[in-house]
Amino acid sequence: MKTVKVNLKERSYKIAVGADLAKLGSAMSALGLGKKIMIVTNPKVGHWYLPPVEQSLKKAGFSVYCTVIPDGERYKSQESANNIYAKCLQYGLDRGGTILALGGGVIGDLAGFAAATFMRGINLVQVPTTLLAQVDSSVGGKVGINLPDGKNMVGAFYQPKLVYADLKTLRTLPSKEFAHGLAEVIKYGIIYDTSLFTYLEKNMGKLKKLDEAVLQKVISRCCAIKAEVVTLDEKEHNLRAILNFGHTIGHALEGITRYQKYKHGEAVALGMVGAVKIAESLELVDSSVGDRLRALLTKAGLPVVIKNIKISWANFLRFMQHDKKVLAGKIRFVLPVRIGQVKIVDTVPLPIIKEIVKSLSK
Ligand code: NAD
Ligand code: GLY
Repeated sequence: MKTVKVNLKERSYKIAVGADLAKLGSAMSALGLGKKIMIVTNPKVGHWYLPPVEQSLKKAGFSVYCTVIPDGERYKSQESANNIYAKCLQYGLDRGGTILALGGGVIGDLAGFAAATFMRGINLVQVPTTLLAQVDSSVGGKVGINLPDGKNMVGAFYQPKLVYADLKTLRTLPSKEFAHGLAEVIKYGIIYDTSLFTYLEKNMGKLKKLDEAVLQKVISRCCAIKAEVVTLDEKEHNLRAILNFGHTIGHALEGITRYQKYKHGEAVALGMVGAVKIAESLELVDSSVGDRLRALLTKAGLPVVIKNIKISWANFLRFMQHDKKVLAGKIRFVLPVRIGQVKIVDTVPLPIIKEIVKSLSK
Protein backbone atom coordinates (compact mmCIF):
# COMPACT_ATOMS: atom_id res chain seq x y z
CA MET A 1 0.00 0.00 0.00
CA LYS A 2 1.12 3.55 -0.67
CA THR A 3 -0.10 6.58 1.25
CA VAL A 4 -0.47 9.97 -0.41
CA LYS A 5 -1.15 12.97 1.81
CA VAL A 6 -3.41 15.90 0.93
CA ASN A 7 -2.06 18.80 3.00
CA LEU A 8 -4.84 21.21 3.87
CA LYS A 9 -4.04 22.17 7.48
CA GLU A 10 -6.82 20.94 9.79
CA ARG A 11 -8.59 19.38 6.79
CA SER A 12 -5.60 17.26 5.75
CA TYR A 13 -6.18 13.60 4.97
CA LYS A 14 -4.60 10.48 3.59
CA ILE A 15 -5.27 8.60 0.38
CA ALA A 16 -4.50 4.90 0.86
CA VAL A 17 -3.71 3.45 -2.58
CA GLY A 18 -3.69 -0.34 -2.70
CA ALA A 19 -5.46 -0.75 0.62
CA ASP A 20 -7.43 -3.83 1.68
CA LEU A 21 -11.20 -3.55 2.29
CA ALA A 22 -10.84 -6.14 5.07
CA LYS A 23 -8.74 -3.61 7.01
CA LEU A 24 -11.03 -0.60 6.46
CA GLY A 25 -12.48 -0.88 9.99
CA SER A 26 -9.12 -0.52 11.70
CA ALA A 27 -8.08 2.31 9.34
CA MET A 28 -11.28 4.14 10.30
CA SER A 29 -10.85 3.47 14.02
CA ALA A 30 -7.54 5.32 13.81
CA LEU A 31 -9.40 8.46 12.67
CA GLY A 32 -11.23 8.82 16.00
CA LEU A 33 -14.68 9.30 14.44
CA GLY A 34 -18.06 8.61 16.06
CA LYS A 35 -19.44 5.08 16.10
CA LYS A 36 -22.25 5.46 13.53
CA ILE A 37 -21.51 4.94 9.86
CA MET A 38 -23.95 5.28 6.96
CA ILE A 39 -22.64 3.47 3.90
CA VAL A 40 -23.98 4.83 0.60
CA THR A 41 -23.66 2.48 -2.36
CA ASN A 42 -25.59 1.09 -5.35
CA PRO A 43 -26.88 -2.46 -5.97
CA LYS A 44 -24.04 -3.41 -8.34
CA VAL A 45 -21.17 -2.28 -6.12
CA GLY A 46 -23.04 -3.35 -2.99
CA HIS A 47 -23.38 -6.88 -4.35
CA TRP A 48 -19.60 -7.24 -4.49
CA TYR A 49 -18.28 -5.06 -1.73
CA LEU A 50 -20.93 -4.34 0.90
CA PRO A 51 -20.38 -7.64 2.77
CA PRO A 52 -16.60 -7.21 3.32
CA VAL A 53 -16.96 -3.52 4.15
CA GLU A 54 -19.79 -4.10 6.66
CA GLN A 55 -17.92 -6.99 8.22
CA SER A 56 -14.71 -5.02 8.63
CA LEU A 57 -16.50 -2.00 10.13
CA LYS A 58 -18.58 -4.09 12.53
CA LYS A 59 -15.51 -6.00 13.65
CA ALA A 60 -13.91 -2.66 14.52
CA GLY A 61 -16.94 -1.82 16.72
CA PHE A 62 -18.87 0.56 14.44
CA SER A 63 -22.67 0.61 14.13
CA VAL A 64 -23.24 0.25 10.41
CA TYR A 65 -26.27 1.36 8.33
CA CYS A 66 -26.74 1.50 4.61
CA THR A 67 -28.56 3.48 1.91
CA VAL A 68 -28.68 1.79 -1.49
CA ILE A 69 -29.23 4.20 -4.41
CA PRO A 70 -30.11 2.88 -7.89
CA ASP A 71 -27.19 2.77 -10.33
CA GLY A 72 -26.76 5.62 -12.79
CA GLU A 73 -25.86 9.27 -13.29
CA ARG A 74 -29.51 10.31 -13.13
CA TYR A 75 -29.61 9.27 -9.47
CA LYS A 76 -26.96 11.87 -8.60
CA SER A 77 -29.95 14.00 -7.65
CA GLN A 78 -31.56 15.98 -4.87
CA GLU A 79 -34.09 13.18 -4.45
CA SER A 80 -31.31 10.66 -3.75
CA ALA A 81 -29.68 13.09 -1.32
CA ASN A 82 -33.05 13.39 0.46
CA ASN A 83 -33.17 9.59 0.78
CA ILE A 84 -29.73 9.64 2.42
CA TYR A 85 -30.77 12.42 4.85
CA ALA A 86 -33.90 10.44 5.76
CA LYS A 87 -31.86 7.33 6.54
CA CYS A 88 -29.36 9.37 8.59
CA LEU A 89 -32.24 10.80 10.63
CA GLN A 90 -33.87 7.39 11.00
CA TYR A 91 -30.68 5.91 12.47
CA GLY A 92 -29.79 8.94 14.56
CA LEU A 93 -26.53 10.00 12.93
CA ASP A 94 -25.26 13.15 14.61
CA ARG A 95 -22.32 15.42 13.77
CA GLY A 96 -19.89 12.74 14.92
CA GLY A 97 -21.37 10.33 12.40
CA THR A 98 -19.81 9.39 9.07
CA ILE A 99 -21.11 8.91 5.55
CA LEU A 100 -19.01 6.37 3.67
CA ALA A 101 -19.21 6.48 -0.12
CA LEU A 102 -18.72 2.98 -1.56
CA GLY A 103 -18.72 3.16 -5.36
CA GLY A 104 -17.68 5.16 -8.40
CA GLY A 105 -17.84 8.89 -9.02
CA VAL A 106 -21.63 9.03 -9.00
CA ILE A 107 -21.90 7.58 -5.50
CA GLY A 108 -18.85 9.55 -4.32
CA ASP A 109 -20.21 12.92 -5.50
CA LEU A 110 -23.72 12.22 -4.18
CA ALA A 111 -22.72 10.78 -0.79
CA GLY A 112 -20.14 13.54 -0.45
CA PHE A 113 -22.84 16.14 -1.10
CA ALA A 114 -25.09 14.55 1.53
CA ALA A 115 -22.19 14.52 4.03
CA ALA A 116 -21.40 18.17 3.29
CA THR A 117 -24.98 19.29 3.88
CA PHE A 118 -26.53 16.98 6.50
CA MET A 119 -26.49 18.93 9.79
CA ARG A 120 -24.18 21.43 7.99
CA GLY A 121 -21.57 18.75 7.55
CA ILE A 122 -20.71 15.35 8.98
CA ASN A 123 -17.66 13.17 8.40
CA LEU A 124 -17.05 11.74 4.93
CA VAL A 125 -14.94 8.75 3.93
CA GLN A 126 -14.45 7.87 0.28
CA VAL A 127 -14.02 4.21 -0.76
CA PRO A 128 -13.73 4.54 -4.56
CA THR A 129 -14.30 1.44 -6.68
CA THR A 130 -13.83 2.70 -10.26
CA LEU A 131 -10.55 3.80 -11.82
CA LEU A 132 -12.02 7.25 -12.43
CA ALA A 133 -13.00 7.59 -8.78
CA GLN A 134 -9.64 6.26 -7.54
CA VAL A 135 -7.58 8.74 -9.58
CA ASP A 136 -9.89 11.72 -9.63
CA SER A 137 -13.35 12.13 -8.14
CA SER A 138 -12.71 10.79 -4.62
CA VAL A 139 -9.75 13.15 -4.14
CA GLY A 140 -9.91 16.91 -3.74
CA GLY A 141 -13.32 17.51 -2.21
CA LYS A 142 -15.57 18.43 -5.12
CA VAL A 143 -18.97 16.97 -4.25
CA GLY A 144 -22.31 17.63 -5.87
CA ILE A 145 -25.52 16.64 -7.55
CA ASN A 146 -27.08 17.32 -10.95
CA LEU A 147 -30.04 19.58 -11.68
CA PRO A 148 -32.45 18.61 -14.47
CA ASP A 149 -30.80 21.34 -16.59
CA GLY A 150 -27.17 20.85 -15.72
CA LYS A 151 -24.59 18.42 -14.42
CA ASN A 152 -22.86 19.11 -11.09
CA MET A 153 -24.77 22.37 -10.77
CA VAL A 154 -25.23 22.18 -6.99
CA GLY A 155 -22.35 21.24 -4.77
CA ALA A 156 -19.56 22.14 -2.43
CA PHE A 157 -15.88 21.79 -1.73
CA TYR A 158 -15.91 19.30 1.13
CA GLN A 159 -12.85 17.22 1.92
CA PRO A 160 -13.10 13.62 3.13
CA LYS A 161 -11.38 12.34 6.28
CA LEU A 162 -9.87 9.45 4.32
CA VAL A 163 -9.76 8.05 0.80
CA TYR A 164 -9.37 4.28 0.87
CA ALA A 165 -8.77 2.66 -2.51
CA ASP A 166 -8.61 -1.13 -2.74
CA LEU A 167 -7.23 -1.80 -6.24
CA LYS A 168 -8.67 -5.33 -6.23
CA THR A 169 -12.14 -3.80 -6.65
CA LEU A 170 -11.12 -2.92 -10.22
CA ARG A 171 -11.20 -6.63 -11.10
CA THR A 172 -15.01 -6.57 -11.28
CA LEU A 173 -15.16 -3.26 -13.15
CA PRO A 174 -16.24 -3.66 -16.81
CA SER A 175 -13.31 -2.88 -19.14
CA LYS A 176 -15.29 -0.08 -20.78
CA GLU A 177 -15.61 1.65 -17.41
CA PHE A 178 -11.89 1.11 -16.79
CA ALA A 179 -11.17 2.87 -20.11
CA HIS A 180 -13.23 5.88 -18.98
CA GLY A 181 -10.89 6.25 -16.01
CA LEU A 182 -7.89 5.98 -18.32
CA ALA A 183 -8.93 9.28 -19.93
CA GLU A 184 -8.32 11.07 -16.62
CA VAL A 185 -5.06 9.14 -16.12
CA ILE A 186 -3.78 10.28 -19.53
CA LYS A 187 -4.93 13.80 -18.67
CA TYR A 188 -2.51 13.90 -15.70
CA GLY A 189 0.37 12.98 -18.02
CA ILE A 190 -0.36 15.85 -20.39
CA ILE A 191 -1.01 18.51 -17.77
CA TYR A 192 1.72 17.69 -15.26
CA ASP A 193 4.05 14.79 -15.83
CA THR A 194 5.99 13.91 -18.98
CA SER A 195 7.42 10.75 -17.43
CA LEU A 196 3.92 9.50 -16.46
CA PHE A 197 2.86 9.98 -20.09
CA THR A 198 5.90 8.09 -21.40
CA TYR A 199 5.35 5.35 -18.81
CA LEU A 200 1.74 5.00 -20.01
CA GLU A 201 2.89 4.75 -23.62
CA LYS A 202 5.11 1.82 -22.63
CA ASN A 203 2.80 0.13 -20.14
CA MET A 204 -0.79 0.64 -21.36
CA GLY A 205 -1.09 -3.08 -22.15
CA LYS A 206 -0.10 -4.11 -18.60
CA LEU A 207 -2.29 -1.42 -17.09
CA LYS A 208 -5.34 -2.70 -18.96
CA LYS A 209 -4.54 -6.22 -17.73
CA LEU A 210 -4.59 -4.82 -14.18
CA ASP A 211 -0.95 -5.65 -13.50
CA GLU A 212 -0.72 -4.90 -9.79
CA ALA A 213 2.61 -3.08 -9.77
CA VAL A 214 1.68 -0.93 -12.76
CA LEU A 215 -1.75 -0.09 -11.31
CA GLN A 216 -0.23 0.86 -7.98
CA LYS A 217 2.40 3.07 -9.58
CA VAL A 218 -0.01 4.83 -11.94
CA ILE A 219 -2.88 5.37 -9.49
CA SER A 220 -0.65 6.64 -6.71
CA ARG A 221 1.12 9.02 -9.12
CA CYS A 222 -2.24 10.41 -10.33
CA CYS A 223 -3.38 10.87 -6.71
CA ALA A 224 -0.10 12.59 -5.83
CA ILE A 225 -0.53 15.02 -8.74
CA LYS A 226 -4.10 15.79 -7.76
CA ALA A 227 -3.11 16.16 -4.09
CA GLU A 228 -0.36 18.63 -5.03
CA VAL A 229 -2.68 20.71 -7.22
CA VAL A 230 -5.49 20.74 -4.63
CA THR A 231 -3.06 21.64 -1.84
CA LEU A 232 -1.92 24.67 -3.84
CA ASP A 233 -5.39 25.76 -4.96
CA GLU A 234 -8.23 23.99 -3.16
CA LYS A 235 -11.10 26.18 -4.41
CA GLU A 236 -10.03 26.49 -8.07
CA HIS A 237 -8.96 30.14 -8.10
CA ASN A 238 -6.19 29.42 -10.60
CA LEU A 239 -3.96 26.30 -10.78
CA ARG A 240 -6.72 23.72 -10.12
CA ALA A 241 -8.33 24.73 -13.41
CA ILE A 242 -5.62 22.70 -15.21
CA LEU A 243 -7.47 19.58 -14.06
CA ASN A 244 -10.19 20.64 -16.50
CA PHE A 245 -8.00 19.88 -19.53
CA GLY A 246 -10.30 18.34 -22.13
CA HIS A 247 -13.40 19.31 -20.18
CA THR A 248 -14.45 22.50 -22.07
CA ILE A 249 -15.31 20.58 -25.25
CA GLY A 250 -15.96 17.39 -23.24
CA HIS A 251 -18.72 18.89 -21.10
CA ALA A 252 -20.38 20.48 -24.14
CA LEU A 253 -20.32 17.12 -25.94
CA GLU A 254 -21.94 15.42 -22.94
CA GLY A 255 -24.54 18.22 -22.79
CA ILE A 256 -25.57 18.28 -26.45
CA THR A 257 -26.01 14.52 -26.43
CA ARG A 258 -28.05 14.78 -23.17
CA TYR A 259 -25.55 12.63 -21.29
CA GLN A 260 -26.75 9.62 -23.31
CA LYS A 261 -24.05 9.05 -25.93
CA TYR A 262 -20.79 9.70 -24.13
CA LYS A 263 -19.66 8.75 -20.65
CA HIS A 264 -17.58 11.43 -18.98
CA GLY A 265 -14.22 9.76 -19.78
CA GLU A 266 -15.06 9.38 -23.49
CA ALA A 267 -16.15 13.00 -23.75
CA VAL A 268 -12.94 14.11 -21.98
CA ALA A 269 -10.87 12.02 -24.42
CA LEU A 270 -12.48 13.84 -27.37
CA GLY A 271 -12.16 17.14 -25.54
CA MET A 272 -8.42 16.56 -25.05
CA VAL A 273 -7.99 15.81 -28.74
CA GLY A 274 -9.88 19.04 -29.53
CA ALA A 275 -7.83 21.10 -27.06
CA VAL A 276 -4.55 19.86 -28.55
CA LYS A 277 -5.79 20.75 -32.05
CA ILE A 278 -6.64 24.26 -30.81
CA ALA A 279 -3.15 24.53 -29.29
CA GLU A 280 -1.68 23.45 -32.62
CA SER A 281 -3.71 25.97 -34.51
CA LEU A 282 -2.51 28.74 -32.12
CA GLU A 283 1.05 27.44 -32.65
CA LEU A 284 1.50 26.62 -28.97
CA VAL A 285 2.58 23.03 -29.64
CA ASP A 286 3.97 20.97 -32.47
CA SER A 287 1.94 18.21 -34.07
CA SER A 288 3.81 15.38 -32.29
CA VAL A 289 1.80 16.06 -29.09
CA GLY A 290 -1.50 15.43 -30.85
CA ASP A 291 -0.11 12.34 -32.60
CA ARG A 292 1.11 10.82 -29.32
CA LEU A 293 -2.10 11.71 -27.47
CA ARG A 294 -4.34 10.15 -30.13
CA ALA A 295 -2.17 7.01 -30.24
CA LEU A 296 -2.33 6.60 -26.45
CA LEU A 297 -6.07 7.24 -26.26
CA THR A 298 -6.61 4.66 -28.99
CA LYS A 299 -4.49 2.12 -27.10
CA ALA A 300 -6.60 2.84 -24.03
CA GLY A 301 -9.80 2.07 -25.97
CA LEU A 302 -11.04 5.66 -26.04
CA PRO A 303 -12.54 7.61 -28.97
CA VAL A 304 -10.49 10.21 -30.87
CA VAL A 305 -13.15 11.17 -33.43
CA ILE A 306 -16.83 12.00 -33.05
CA LYS A 307 -18.95 9.48 -34.91
CA ASN A 308 -22.63 9.39 -35.83
CA ILE A 309 -23.76 12.67 -34.37
CA LYS A 310 -24.57 15.90 -36.13
CA ILE A 311 -23.39 18.85 -34.08
CA SER A 312 -25.35 22.07 -34.10
CA TRP A 313 -22.71 24.75 -33.49
CA ALA A 314 -25.25 27.10 -31.82
CA ASN A 315 -26.21 24.39 -29.35
CA PHE A 316 -22.61 23.39 -28.74
CA LEU A 317 -21.65 27.02 -28.07
CA ARG A 318 -24.59 27.41 -25.68
CA PHE A 319 -23.31 24.46 -23.62
CA MET A 320 -19.74 25.77 -23.60
CA GLN A 321 -20.99 29.18 -22.47
CA HIS A 322 -23.10 27.71 -19.67
CA ASP A 323 -20.25 25.70 -18.22
CA LYS A 324 -19.36 26.52 -14.59
CA LYS A 325 -15.84 27.33 -15.76
CA VAL A 326 -17.01 30.29 -17.86
CA LEU A 327 -15.95 33.55 -16.20
CA ALA A 328 -17.23 36.93 -17.43
CA GLY A 329 -18.51 35.26 -20.58
CA LYS A 330 -15.06 33.99 -21.58
CA ILE A 331 -14.73 30.37 -22.64
CA ARG A 332 -11.72 28.94 -20.85
CA PHE A 333 -9.42 26.38 -22.44
CA VAL A 334 -6.56 24.47 -20.88
CA LEU A 335 -4.04 24.04 -23.70
CA PRO A 336 -0.79 22.08 -23.78
CA VAL A 337 2.50 23.78 -24.57
CA ARG A 338 4.27 20.40 -24.41
CA ILE A 339 3.57 17.00 -22.87
CA GLY A 340 3.65 17.68 -19.12
CA GLN A 341 2.78 21.38 -19.21
CA VAL A 342 -0.37 23.34 -20.00
CA LYS A 343 -1.54 26.94 -19.89
CA ILE A 344 -4.95 28.48 -19.40
CA VAL A 345 -6.21 30.53 -22.34
CA ASP A 346 -9.40 32.63 -22.26
CA THR A 347 -9.00 34.19 -25.68
CA VAL A 348 -9.36 31.41 -28.24
CA PRO A 349 -11.24 32.99 -31.18
CA LEU A 350 -14.68 31.43 -31.69
CA PRO A 351 -14.05 30.63 -35.41
CA ILE A 352 -11.06 28.48 -34.36
CA ILE A 353 -13.12 26.59 -31.77
CA LYS A 354 -15.86 26.06 -34.37
CA GLU A 355 -13.43 24.78 -37.01
CA ILE A 356 -11.76 22.38 -34.56
CA VAL A 357 -15.04 21.00 -33.24
CA LYS A 358 -16.12 20.40 -36.84
CA SER A 359 -12.81 18.68 -37.59
CA LEU A 360 -13.37 16.20 -34.73
CA SER A 361 -16.35 14.69 -36.56
CA LYS A 362 -16.02 11.84 -39.03
P1 NAD B 1 -20.07 5.52 -12.01
O1 NAD B 1 -19.98 5.93 -10.61
O2 NAD B 1 -21.39 5.63 -12.70
O3 NAD B 1 -19.53 4.02 -12.16
C1 NAD B 1 -19.54 3.42 -13.43
C2 NAD B 1 -20.25 2.07 -13.42
O4 NAD B 1 -19.42 1.10 -12.78
C3 NAD B 1 -21.56 2.05 -12.64
O5 NAD B 1 -22.47 1.23 -13.30
C4 NAD B 1 -21.16 1.44 -11.30
O6 NAD B 1 -22.24 0.81 -10.64
C5 NAD B 1 -20.14 0.42 -11.73
N1 NAD B 1 -19.13 0.07 -10.74
C6 NAD B 1 -18.48 0.88 -9.88
N2 NAD B 1 -17.50 0.20 -9.25
C7 NAD B 1 -17.55 -1.07 -9.70
C8 NAD B 1 -16.78 -2.23 -9.46
N3 NAD B 1 -15.72 -2.19 -8.67
N4 NAD B 1 -17.12 -3.37 -10.08
C9 NAD B 1 -18.17 -3.40 -10.96
N5 NAD B 1 -18.90 -2.33 -11.27
C10 NAD B 1 -18.59 -1.17 -10.65
O7 NAD B 1 -19.04 6.36 -12.94
P2 NAD B 1 -17.58 6.93 -12.68
O8 NAD B 1 -16.97 6.97 -14.01
O9 NAD B 1 -16.89 6.26 -11.57
O10 NAD B 1 -17.88 8.41 -12.19
C11 NAD B 1 -18.50 9.35 -13.01
C12 NAD B 1 -19.01 10.49 -12.14
O11 NAD B 1 -17.91 11.11 -11.49
C13 NAD B 1 -19.74 11.58 -12.90
O12 NAD B 1 -20.91 11.91 -12.20
C14 NAD B 1 -18.77 12.76 -12.87
O13 NAD B 1 -19.43 14.00 -12.89
C15 NAD B 1 -18.08 12.52 -11.55
N6 NAD B 1 -16.74 13.14 -11.43
C16 NAD B 1 -16.50 13.86 -10.31
C17 NAD B 1 -15.24 14.44 -10.13
C18 NAD B 1 -14.95 15.18 -8.86
O14 NAD B 1 -13.87 15.78 -8.76
N7 NAD B 1 -15.82 15.15 -7.88
C19 NAD B 1 -14.24 14.24 -11.09
C20 NAD B 1 -14.52 13.47 -12.22
C21 NAD B 1 -15.79 12.93 -12.38
N1 GLY C 1 -11.99 16.87 -11.54
C1 GLY C 1 -11.56 18.23 -11.48
C2 GLY C 1 -11.28 18.72 -10.11
O1 GLY C 1 -11.38 17.99 -9.16
O2 GLY C 1 -10.97 19.87 -9.95
